[in-house]
Amino acid sequence: MRALGVLISGRGSNLQALITASEAPDYPARIALVIANRADAGGLQLAAAAGLPTLVIRHQDHADRASFDAALDAALRSAGVDLVCLAGFMRLLTPGFVAAWRDRLINIHPSLLPSFKGTDGPAQAVAAGVRIAGCTVHMVRAEMDAGPILVQAAVPVRPDDTEATLAARILTAEHIALPRAVALVASGRITIAGEQVHYHDAEAAAAASVFLA
Ligand code: GAR
Repeated sequence: MRALGVLISGRGSNLQALITASEAPDYPARIALVIANRADAGGLQLAAAAGLPTLVIRHQDHADRASFDAALDAALRSAGVDLVCLAGFMRLLTPGFVAAWRDRLINIHPSLLPSFKGTDGPAQAVAAGVRIAGCTVHMVRAEMDAGPILVQAAVPVRPDDTEATLAARILTAEHIALPRAVALVASGRITIAGEQVHYHDAEAAAAASVFLA
């Protein structure tokens, strides 16, 4: 059983997907701590409602990124966390933090990486006119929105989509992809070798690709 730390900055719908998944008796991870970098992050209420420990670590209270990340690191370790999930966490982490949690640090991004990195994946997809969009769950590397891809989920882009309608469709896919990727890692059914992901069985490999109509 892995002890999960979840880092959030806002609404927390992906956190809620993890909470719901982890309440199943056979789910291979439990949420040990939820940390928000903003006191007004809606996800804090979701965590509290689920009876989970929460912490607010405000980036403004730290002189630089290194000291903010050191505070995150200390809180995660003292909670016994051994797998960290960035679920809508809108801060860039330092290379030192990323190295310390290498292959134990998972991010969800609302695009089919390596396309559309950055903060506005759905808007970039609409602007580019792509006909398929989606989300990516990946291991974090020092470079933003890069790292071994664990799970991707694809959704169609409709001709009348706006950023908001496409983001909502992608979010539905995120809520499937994130708990699934965490389960694959936490159960040891996939391992990371360098920049490659090894799926240990056909079922795990099949779970890595999600297609929603
Ligand atoms: C999600 O769409 C997530 O993919 C995105 O922020 C949203 C958070 O929603 N993350 C990024 O864009 C990271 N670059 P949530 O708070 O409801 O989970």
